[in-house]
Amino acid sequence: MKLSDLPEFKVKLKHVALAGVACIALYGVSYGMIEATNQTTFCGESCHEMDPMYQTWQHSAHAQSGVGCADCHEKPGLQGTIESKAKGTKELWLHVTGQVPDPIKMANPSDTNCYTCHQDKMLNAETAAAAKDPHTMKHFENGMTCNTCHSGVVHNDKTNMYVPSRERCYTCHLDAMSKL
Ligand code: HEC
Ligand code: HEC
Ligand code: HEC
Ligand code: HEC
Repeated sequence: MKLSDLPEFKVKLKHVALAGVACIALYGVSYGMIEATNQTTFCGESCHEMDPMYQTWQHSAHAQSGVGCADCHEKPGLQGTIESKAKGTKELWLHVTGQVPDPIKMANPSDTNCYTCHQDKMLNAETAAAAKDPHTMKHFENGMTCNTCHSGVVHNDKTNMYVPSRERCYTCHLDAMSKL
């Protein structure tokens, strides 16, 4: 007997085909729309692996300011848009064929995305030191990223509406506690 004669195979194939058509139709609609909010609806609502990320994002200060998934997770510029579409197409295939881990994993956004909107945080070291500002060049030169201190800025319901506490400064600046 051939594999394709098995009833189970046929059902699975039908399911895959149906899900595929629905997902590709949705994808086709959002493909043309480069606007981030449309992509956000696509990312968050059409593929269940994204549910937890979509929910936490909805509760975050970023969502309330209209900052969508692509603003943080896509490289800025045209090249980023193209790369992300290519990646999206591959992910769509994995989704349709049930190969996406649930919940999904994704590379952390790069600082470049954060700078695009938060350039004011890139103060020079002298100014930052005088103001005891955590956004000093010295941190970035020492390999820290925005996410070192701001992890959970979007996808953690306990922290996605707040700035981090200065408590954590003391893990490294114990000696200089009084100075910060
Ligand atoms: C497309 C623009 C945009 C991008 C990209 C962006 N942000 Fe924001 N961010 C905002 C806006 C708008 C607010 C809300 C400002 C306000 O309410 O005063 C905000 C608020 C914040 C806050 C204040 C805390 C809060 O939740 O209210 C932090 C911290 C922050 N962003 C960090 C980051 C980090 C880290 C990244 C990169 C992973 C990032 N942002 C990417 C626009 C952006
Ligand atoms: C060393 C830890 C640390 C790093 C690294 C860091 N932050 Fe922050 N950030 C903080 C803390 C702490 C606060 C809360 C305000 C304060 O205590 O000065 C904050 C506040 C903010 C706010 C809200 C400030 C406001 O004015 O309301 C934004 C936006 C922000 N950070 C963006 C960034 C971005 C973008 C990066 C990466 C370029 C970054 N941060 C890197 C610790 C850090
Ligand atoms: C303001 C920036 C920002 C926005 C907007 C944003 N994210 Fe994220 N995302 C992050 C950061 C930062 C991380 C790294 C994990 C963390 O710090 O919570 C992350 C992690 C993730 C991960 C990986 C989780 C893991 O465990 O590997 C996924 C998937 C994800 N985001 C999906 C989304 C989706 C879907 C949306 C829109 C509905 C979205 N993100 C919107 C900043 C953002
Ligand atoms: C992971 C370790 C780590 C954490 C956490 C950390 N820092 Fe730092 N910080 C450093 C290092 C390393 C330097 C660079 C020291 C040097 O070059 O003299 C530095 C330098 C600084 C400077 C610049 C001082 C100068 O002389 O220019 C300031 C200001 C600062 N940190 C504030 C903070 C604040 C505020 C927090 C908490 C929000 C914080 N740091 C959390 C490691 C850390």
